[in-house]
Amino acid sequence: MKLAFVGKGGAGKSAIAGTFCRFLARRGDVPVLAIDSDPLPGLALSLGLDIDDDVRIPDEAVRERREGERGGRYRLVDDLDIVEAVEKWSVHAADGVRFLQFGKVKGQAESGNRLWKSQMAFRQITQNLPEDHWHVVGDLPGGTRQAFTGWGGFARTALIVVEPTAAGTLSARRLARMVALEHGPERVFAIANKCRRDDDAEFVAEKTGLEVVGAVPWDEAFAEAERNRRAPIDDAPDSAAVREVESLVNRVVAEVGV
Ligand SMILES: Nc1ncnc2c1ncn2[C@@H]1O[C@H](COP(=O)(O)OP(=O)(O)OP(=O)(O)O)[C@@H](O)[C@H]1O
Ligand SMILES: [Mg+2]
Repeated sequence: MKLAFVGKGGAGKSAIAGTFCRFLARRGDVPVLAIDSDPLPGLALSLGLDIDDDVRIPDEAVRERREGERGGRYRLVDDLDIVEAVEKWSVHAADGVRFLQFGKVKGQAESGNRLWKSQMAFRQITQNLPEDHWHVVGDLPGGTRQAFTGWGGFARTALIVVEPTAAGTLSARRLARMVALEHGPERVFAIANKCRRDDDAEFVAEKTGLEVVGAVPWDEAFAEAERNRRAPIDDAPDSAAVREVESLVNRVVAEVGV
């Protein structure tokens, strides 16, 4: 599966995506590759990685465009084996999940060219991942802009995380429209998050017109795990929200297939 979690800022993409990856990996179908384009450590934390390290893709991944070649200034070096490259440049998280990061700015002096190279490499790697080697799960930046243009293009299925509020459902509807316009994923589902009422999933379905594949309750354990800098699945494995993400994984697998 190639999935992308999208949604409004703060909707709960990273918290759910990280927990989703861990449960998906425990199924043992194929390895899970978690990819993160956000310079903030949301997905890393929810996977259980407390990283401040620089896990960007190294310079050796790219070369300058040659004369007569089209496209951006940097491209992957010739004959790069994508599987090997990901094995080498990703970080090991619990349950065997691999984590690949877009690259973050680590201070002024360094921020320019090297980061740009890493990000070009990241984008090209994610667009050229082999079909069946991993389950690929991406955590896309918040908001409705550039959802599936650029590096989100790897995804076949979009999971839109939606809070059951007027603003949340409006944003999800826009996002779903944009996804359709941009020839993005084949399947689009909503996940209602921070639900406090039994009819929240219904509300989201009605307001967005999307199929709701999961309804994650509001759960203090999620926020608490973040404060403890731990993965929700490790910090509160029996919490209602974590349990719901486990069922969500099985429902998504049933819908999309392994
Ligand atoms: N079901 C939930 N119950 C309670 N708190 C939640 C729930 N889901 C997420 N949160 C909390 O909401 C905050 C935002 O969650 P998260 O960082 O996952 O959102 P995001 O969509 O990734 O945000 P961003 O757009 O900034 O990347 C976090 O503090 C998280 O712990
Ligand atoms: Mg996030």
